[in-house]
Amino acid sequence: MITVAEGARTHRIDRRIYGQFAEHLGRCIYEGIWVGEDSPIPHRNGIRSDVVAALRAIKVPLVRWPGGCFADEYHWQRGVGPRSERPAMINTHWGGVVESNAFGTHEYFELLHQLDAEAYITGNVGSGTVAEMRDWVEYITLDGTSPMADLRKRHGREQPWRLPFFGVGNESWGCGGHMTPLHYANHYRQYQTYVRRYGELPIYKIACGANNDDYEWTEVLMATAGTLMDGLSLHYYTIPSGEWDAKGSATDFGEREWYATIDRTRQMATLLERHSAIMDKHDPAKRVGLIVDEWGTWYDPTPGTNPGFLHQQNTIRDAVVAALNFNMFHRHADRVRMTNIAQMVNVLQAMLLTDGPDMIRTPTYWAFDLYTDHHDAWFVDARPAPGDAPGRIGVHGEYTVSWRDDAYTISVTNAGLGADIHVDVELPARVTTVHRAAILSGDSASSHNTFAAPDTVRPADFADCKIDGSRLRLAVPARSIVTMRVG
Ligand code: AHR
Repeated sequence: MITVAEGARTHRIDRRIYGQFAEHLGRCIYEGIWVGEDSPIPHRNGIRSDVVAALRAIKVPLVRWPGGCFADEYHWQRGVGPRSERPAMINTHWGGVVESNAFGTHEYFELLHQLDAEAYITGNVGSGTVAEMRDWVEYITLDGTSPMADLRKRHGREQPWRLPFFGVGNESWGCGGHMTPLHYANHYRQYQTYVRRYGELPIYKIACGANNDDYEWTEVLMATAGTLMDGLSLHYYTIPSGEWDAKGSATDFGEREWYATIDRTRQMATLLERHSAIMDKHDPAKRVGLIVDEWGTWYDPTPGTNPGFLHQQNTIRDAVVAALNFNMFHRHADRVRMTNIAQMVNVLQAMLLTDGPDMIRTPTYWAFDLYTDHHDAWFVDARPAPGDAPGRIGVHGEYTVSWRDDAYTISVTNAGLGADIHVDVELPARVTTVHRAAILSGDSASSHNTFAAPDTVRPADFADCKIDGSRLRLAVPARSIVTMRVG
């Protein structure tokens, strides 16, 4: 039995844990988001309306842009001004295709406006200059008169935008410049100096953090530049095989690959704990956030697609992976203030897939949907059954509990492929109202949505719950996520 004690609320679950990442990569920005003002696909100011409506429904809190590896070769000035005059470039990281620069700063803020989401921009350290980064921040945020503010006005935007989050480089240990930790830490110190606060709003500065278990990177960054940053990032992808050269198929896999995927996903907990422990040493007050600004599944690309486009299908396995990650982020949300799944549309573990005018929601999208009531809620450290670790139900089960607006949200995941999980949840008071009872399940391990069958995997009402006073008795089938919201 899971026991929820009154007052077991420990920390807030920032809604930004449900952030997204949209890079100039494959068909994420172009086709997935931006179709242009002359497109026959329904759009508002060039941004497709079906995608915006779907993303608004899962309350996307913020969007990280423009990359990724792309960020360190992006020169923002090429992406402003009349679109017909913007120079094209080659996207050397991703497929060698022509990047038209049609989607730039103004289009990004238009997207955020339509989504009602916050900005998180990653600046170019790898191949850009300090002045270029300074100018971008000035262009976006300075009210009044200055060369960059005047340029913005000439481009049709009188008021500055809000820029709450700014990343200083991306994967500077790899595609962002192959730097050593000390080299980057010194670059960070210099570049961040010129990420100036022009308006009322402070800019939360995020330093490039470690790849997976590179704890030395975290140590050096915190020791050398910890006092100058607000957040430090971490990137960790779930690759079923653990091998970059043959990661595994998104849809064609067996039991062994399923469980390998679950195990590799759960390694996130160790990474969060160990990176946090290093941060605690330098920053015991937990001022600096751990920002997991890239996570998700990474499989072999869909056969027949450009391998540089990182297109992959998305099954109930991906939804379960998302739920397990959310559970870990909730538990560590005293340090983990934001995360960004990679990526929002048509790339890696996407929410949405598009094909011309058509769009489908993936199982991962529905996992996000099932967790919306956890946004900005209090994490409740509910006690597991004797013998289970906190948050776990036996070998395959997991739970997370939060509290907000006088109601508890309880999510239970069965990450197994075999038996149902039977679990009782004891709440501090009698249940009087069931606000939501939903289940996301797959008929098979690789159940997924296609353009021909877009609703194969989608939430249904959850009926397998008996309420007995203050107790919920749940039966959660294999490969399922259940969310109950009760007051
Ligand atoms: O998300 C795809 C790529 O993965 C990003 O561009 C890069 O930061 C990471 O290696």
